[in-house]
Amino acid sequence: MQKGHSAVVAGLGAWLPPRVVDNDELSRSLDTSDEWIRTRTGIRERRIADADTSTVDLAVQAGGNALRSAGSDVVDALVLATSTADQLCPASAPQVASGLGLSGIAAFDVNAVCSGFLYALATAGGLIAGGIANRVLVIGADVFSRLCDPEDRSTLPIFGDGAGAVVLRAGDADEPGALGPIDLHSDGELADLLIVPAGGARQRVSAEPHDYFLTMQGTTVFRHACARMAESARTVLERAGQDVADVDRFVGHQANLRILQATAKQLGLPEDRVVANIARTGNTSAASIPLALADACEDGSLRPGHRVLMTAFGAGLTWGSTLLTWPDVKPG
Ligand code: ACO
Repeated sequence: MQKGHSAVVAGLGAWLPPRVVDNDELSRSLDTSDEWIRTRTGIRERRIADADTSTVDLAVQAGGNALRSAGSDVVDALVLATSTADQLCPASAPQVASGLGLSGIAAFDVNAVCSGFLYALATAGGLIAGGIANRVLVIGADVFSRLCDPEDRSTLPIFGDGAGAVVLRAGDADEPGALGPIDLHSDGELADLLIVPAGGARQRVSAEPHDYFLTMQGTTVFRHACARMAESARTVLERAGQDVADVDRFVGHQANLRILQATAKQLGLPEDRVVANIARTGNTSAASIPLALADACEDGSLRPGHRVLMTAFGAGLTWGSTLLTWPDVKPG
């Protein structure tokens, strides 16, 4: 990478809607139990956005916190990772930029579902490497509770709402916070494993209300998630000339505690390196990695100098990984 053209993390922000819904509350309206949800997923509670709160609202809060953390609200571009944009058209990023008082900057959405944050980091890194932007606000925000059928116990307990963000600035590849190699993949042949069938251009309207909600073949997705995340993690380590033993913190997409544990096991990573905040957030899709980073900074388990491996997997299917050394950055 040409000197001064690497993307370096300069700020971190998170936001969760205030309403906590624990497993017992869910079990009152759904044929499930706290015991089932905890043992199968590791989730104890999740945050749910009120009816008048949307993805844009969450993204503005997290983005504002990241700008505060960076100590400057000057950015040239905003990349929003989301698969729950406020409208099918237009993208939500311009509304987020305006909400932050940044009207005029380049702003667009990236939709790679639960891998969206890593795809957005890669996109922002490309803007910086190409000299198109010097500072980019990257936000992952999703309101997945809107995509879950309130009567579907196979999806509703798993998802939560939230947003997380980082500010990337142009810098050098050997600085703390510089994004290392990025590995991204997809497999559209398996799109049906996790899909909202109706509402898009293929099928605008359906007589079947469930078609507007997420359907998931959980067990198959589980298997793919572990295999693909481990594979991709190995790829970035190899490209960086590093070994699993060099990884201090594994920040994987928080889809299921058992997926994180199984992936770490496949990689030969000790469990004490695994960052897991899923117990209190559920799966927040594109928000999950920056939310996990922020939580780990807050509780002191992620510290400057730690070598961080980030990996994600989501609908699409999509998956990917990257590496960085955590800089002296705290959530704003
Ligand atoms: N409460 C009680 N019982 C339940 C529930 C529930 N909420 N959900 C399913 N069950 C039952 C099933 O009906 C089944 O019963 P049966 O044995 O009598 O048929 C049994 O529990 C086991 O069901 P499975 O689906 O096989 O359970 P599994 O251990 O696979 O866990 C889960 C399900 C949690 C969904 C898991 O498969 C998973 O986490 N999958 C991955 C999800 C994921 O990673 N998504 C990725 C990204 S998300 C995105 O991109 C949008």
